[in-house]
Parts: sequence; structure tokens; C-alpha cells
Amino acid sequence: MAIDGELFRRVLGYFPTGVAVVTSLATPNGGRASVPWGTTVNAFSSVSLDPPLVLVCIGRERSIHPIVRRSGRFAVNILAEDAQALSDCFAGAPVTPSRAEFCGASHHPGPFGLPILDAAVAAFECSVEAAHDAGDHTIFIGRVESAEAHTDQPAFPLLYYRGHYLRIERAAPADLLGKPES
Ligand SMILES: Cc1cc2nc3c(=O)[nH]c(=O)nc-3n(C[C@H](O)[C@H](O)[C@H](O)COP(=O)(O)O)c2cc1C
Repeated sequence: MAIDGELFRRVLGYFPTGVAVVTSLATPNGGRASVPWGTTVNAFSSVSLDPPLVLVCIGRERSIHPIVRRSGRFAVNILAEDAQALSDCFAGAPVTPSRAEFCGASHHPGPFGLPILDAAVAAFECSVEAAHDAGDHTIFIGRVESAEAHTDQPAFPLLYYRGHYLRIERAAPADLLGKPES
């Protein structure tokens, strides 16, 4: 019995995730110049600690799919809570600056040479260890070549749950166990 697509999406939405932008370098027209490209994903997971492996699932019709296949490398940028607009832009929202302008996102090259977003709370650079076709997606397994996290200031990630963005609530009330000063 085939499961209804709408139901499948809706039920998957009950699993809360972070939001990441997979970035890579495209070489249009087979030229030498490379341009940064990015796509928003939430299908990201750790795979192995030794060796360090992660995975991303990319739809085979996605514009970044042939770029990752050809270049054999990708970075995973875990977005900060205030980077919602970048998430939308890298998911194809019709905004200015456009995705072709890398969404106007400030970025720097990581040690492995891939574009790392300044709006990321943490980022990994990976070389493609394996690519497995799975339905309409490809599971790209990446060997982690570099990992960095913002440690200088507490940065919180953007969350995705049931089709909406969420932020981590910091002001959760808790009952006092001791006596307050009188
Ligand atoms: C929160 C969020 C999570 C997404 N997760 C994935 C994902 O894990 N894999 C994927 O292939 N596309 C994912 N997408 C969709 C792509 O970001 C978007 O459809 C794509 O960039 C547009 O297609 P194009 O790159 O071919 O223009 C996600 C979009 C959003 C907004």
C-alpha cells in the first residue's frame, strides 16, 4: 500500500531539526573560475566518529546536486537563529540579493577551500566519500576535512519543525527549590 505523499511529509515534520545550507563551488561552462552555490537542507546527520563521516540527502533535481557530484566536496553550514532569510533564499525564495548572488551572504573560505557562511553557528567541510542513490534523493556521505564552531559568543541555531521556523526558548520558567530573599 503506497503511503500518501502529503501524509508522509506531514508526519516527517514532527521530527524537529536544525537548518543547514550545503555550499559548494560550481565551475560554470567548464571554466577555471569557481562560483559559490548553496542549498538549504535539514536532511543532515552524523554517521561515524572514526573516521569522521556525516551525510546529507540532496534531491536529484536540486541545482546543487550536479555541483556536489562533479566537485566531490561540500560544506554543511548550520544556520544561526537570525539567519532565517538566508534559509529562505538558499531554498529558492524570490528575494534580493538573489541566490545567483549567493544571497548576499558574507562568507569566508574554510581550510579546505569551501565557502563557509558567517551566519553559521558551526560548519563542516567534507570530501564525498560515497554517494548512494535513494529514491528521488542521493545520500552524500562526506568525510569531514574541517570542523569549526562559534565559541567566542553563545550562538543558537535556527530550528525547523512542522513546516515552521522555531528558535530555542531561553527564558523557560523553573520553580524555585530554595527560599527567595524576603
Ligand atoms: C527548511 C528546509 C529544508 C530543506 N531540506 C532539504 C533537504 O534536506 N534536501 C533537499 O534536497 N532539499 C531540501 N530543501 C529544499 C531545497 O532547499 C530547495 O527546494 C531547493 O534549494 C530549490 O531547488 P533548486 O536548488 O533546484 O533551485 C529544504 C528546504 C527548506 C526550506
